[in-house]
Amino acid sequence: MPDRPYTLLSCSVSIDGYLGNGARLALSNDADFDRVDEVRASCDAIMVGAATVRTDNPRLLVRSPERREQRAARGLAPSPVKVTITEGAVLDACSDFFTTGEAEKLVYCASPVVEDACARLGAVATVIDGGEPVEMRRVTEDLGERGVERLMVEGGGKVHTQFLTEDLVDELQLVVAPCFVGDSRAPRFVSDGRFPWNPQRRATLAGVRQIGDVVLLRYALSPRFRTD
Ligand SMILES: NC(=O)c1ccc[n+]([C@@H]2O[C@H](COP(=O)([O-])OP(=O)(O)OC[C@H]3O[C@@H](n4cnc5c(N)ncnc54)[C@H](OP(=O)(O)O)[C@@H]3O)[C@@H](O)[C@H]2O)c1
Repeated sequence: MPDRPYTLLSCSVSIDGYLGNGARLALSNDADFDRVDEVRASCDAIMVGAATVRTDNPRLLVRSPERREQRAARGLAPSPVKVTITEGAVLDACSDFFTTGEAEKLVYCASPVVEDACARLGAVATVIDGGEPVEMRRVTEDLGERGVERLMVEGGGKVHTQFLTEDLVDELQLVVAPCFVGDSRAPRFVSDGRFPWNPQRRATLAGVRQIGDVVLLRYALSPRFRTD
């Protein structure tokens, strides 16, 4: 079986477990954004779901000039490879995900829409036939074959749910922001599923850190968990 990258899932949630309010919403604070920037700089690739690309229009770049230079000095692109996944391939080639940064952009899509995806995104990204259905394990193994050793997963809830239920996460970095969303239509951290951690098999809490008004909870979810 091909090796999959060390996978770190990073996200911020409200006290009531929501990822936001359906629109782009900053749950974290500046100090935590800087911490996330450092984590990004340590990774080879960052993955988000297509809905996050559409809703948040994220750039997914390393912001700090020093970190970008340090990566360049190591022979790396200033920011990690960007990865997204889609079943419908309705993504805008002009969104910031595709137009910013020098690193490669990878789009894993379901087999039936490969042609559409190539027509729409072929000029700005590498389109990969992810099979039908697209299975996250296969995606991560393919990323491993492409040289990705450390993968950061940054949302949203549908992507989190698959990575966690399929036991593909080595480390969870969960930030809890001091606010409520209070709207059950808003996206949650995860949706329904059979998770490997439950009241009988609890996850290992590896660290707790207060960062201004938010708290970072770090969970070791596999024996591959590393503290570096
Ligand atoms: N607080 C945070 O840290 C944080 C971080 C990221 C995002 N968010 C929020 O999360 C929300 C989006 O979350 P979400 O759960 O709605 O969506 P999501 O996980 O970002 O993306 C879901 C989409 O990804 C594609 N996808 C996922 N799994 C797939 C599979 N196995 N095969 C093929 N395609 C697959 C599908 O795209 P298609 O629809 O194109 O087929 C699906 O609709 C946004 O509101 C965003 O603001 C918050």
